Amino acid sequence: MNPKILVIGACGQIGTELTLALRKLYGRDQVIASDIKEGSGTLMSSGPFETLNAMDKLAVEACVEKHRVSDVYLLAAMLSATSEKFPQKAWELNMSTLSHILELARDKKIQKVFWPSSIAVFGDTTPKENTPQTTIKEPTTVYGITKLSGERWCEYFYKKYDVDVRSLRYPGLISWKANPGGGTTDYAVEIYYKAISDGKYTSFLQKGTLLPMLYMDDAIRATIKLMQAPKEQIRIRSSYNLGGISIAPENIEASIQKHLPDFKVVYQPDFRQAIADSWPEGMNDSKATEDWGWQHRFELDDITQEMLTNLKVKLSEKVE
Ligand code: SER
Repeated sequence: MNPKILVIGACGQIGTELTLALRKLYGRDQVIASDIKEGSGTLMSSGPFETLNAMDKLAVEACVEKHRVSDVYLLAAMLSATSEKFPQKAWELNMSTLSHILELARDKKIQKVFWPSSIAVFGDTTPKENTPQTTIKEPTTVYGITKLSGERWCEYFYKKYDVDVRSLRYPGLISWKANPGGGTTDYAVEIYYKAISDGKYTSFLQKGTLLPMLYMDDAIRATIKLMQAPKEQIRIRSSYNLGGISIAPENIEASIQKHLPDFKVVYQPDFRQAIADSWPEGMNDSKATEDWGWQHRFELDDITQEMLTNLKVKLSEKVE
């Protein structure tokens, strides 16, 4: 039987594409999109939508009951750079939303939960290259602290109450359909927009800042694969490392220059540099491969090709 899905935070960077992909797979009415505000025209016209404040437990529960929801994808969160500006708000938002959903799953009101973690669970003391699944985790950012705490809660609810919660430590995600907001890896999206609109980009991370990244199509495929895997195959209930490729701003610059030879990047690092410096350069995601067959597909030049082609169309439509 097809699951009845609620996507919370459906209008964000991941939510927009995940909702569209889930609707394609299971049918438009099987997937309820929800967010505190409305999203893009494409998302809003693709199926049912509920305005929902994920911090309001009663409202979330009412929505779950109304639509007889079986699976929840909880994507509402404050990202790393914004969280540094509003630490208390980030803690409250990122933790209360997760705890509401885990409690609903414990009380058997929902059957399955997806919750995203992040490379931000790692910190300065973590081995930076090919970062293992299990290693030192001393995050120095508010966002990382919320994600590491969340991972511990997920595993706890699985062990104690048999809650079927599944999670991925997403790296930076590159996409063109919906913008990221308030993250440290956002530069890897902005750079493509600016390459097309201005022919130059001012990077807030400096040359040589290697970070793990993934194209959104790969991230969505990983998410759906993880959620469809038989329960016994999910041996990690905190969160799986998800690697992909390891890139620095100048690598994207060079990749774009293959299409736009005059494209230039100026480097002006700001407070986000320290956040990026505390994160891994590349991730070892062999556990995800072993347990449920994960493999990324898009390399940097594939991503550049996709981004430039799709953004050219998107940006020209906006101007008209
Ligand atoms: N992309 C996120 C951020 O930069 C990391 O998970 O905050």
